[in-house]
Amino acid sequence: MKIFIDTANVEEIKEASTWGILSGCTTNPSLIAKEGRDLKEVIQEITSLVDGPISAEVNEGDLDSMEKEAIELSKLHKNIVIKVPMTKDGISLTKRLSNKGIKTNVTLVFSVPQALLAFEAGATFVSPFMGRIDDMNESGAALIAKLAEVKNIYGYETEIIAASIRNTKHIEEAALAGADIATIPFGVLKKAFDHPLTTNGLKIFKEASKK
Ligand code: G3P
Repeated sequence: MKIFIDTANVEEIKEASTWGILSGCTTNPSLIAKEGRDLKEVIQEITSLVDGPISAEVNEGDLDSMEKEAIELSKLHKNIVIKVPMTKDGISLTKRLSNKGIKTNVTLVFSVPQALLAFEAGATFVSPFMGRIDDMNESGAALIAKLAEVKNIYGYETEIIAASIRNTKHIEEAALAGADIATIPFGVLKKAFDHPLTTNGLKIFKEASKK
């Protein structure tokens, strides 16, 4: 399973990129707003730090206005992926962009039928939101597993990005459910390195090496 970072914070991306495990980055309007910066400026900076797909979301609106914004964003860099909302216009836009060879990431996916529409429209990526499904007392992991199964049965090439990852358990569940990618917030990604037995083992080795 590939690892993307789910952030628009350039300092976090800089640090995580030194770890050698990042294959891409996803942003969304909330993450951009948190930084208080211009979308294009942030995205441009991320392209110099991450050598892989970088998702930039269009503002939800009518089809033509979203297409105009998508085309402008896609011109920023070859790695730009247009994040598109899971709406009728969003799916039409996915098809239009796919016909133009522009990569897309259909976001806010919460069901198999929604994902199927995105697969059929030629989405490059779909983003089911694990944490938000768990918030509804349902299973984000079960949804990922179902999407992976449908993808496998019909041979769709769309990659499944497990999004809304809130903890390291979600990383494990996404991997076991067959997600192609997990997009992980910086704080959760840092925690994935840790285990109390690793810390303890290191302490024991350090003390032994002094003797
Ligand atoms: O990848 C989508 C993510 O940014 C949303 O996460 O925690 O707001 O559900 P969350």
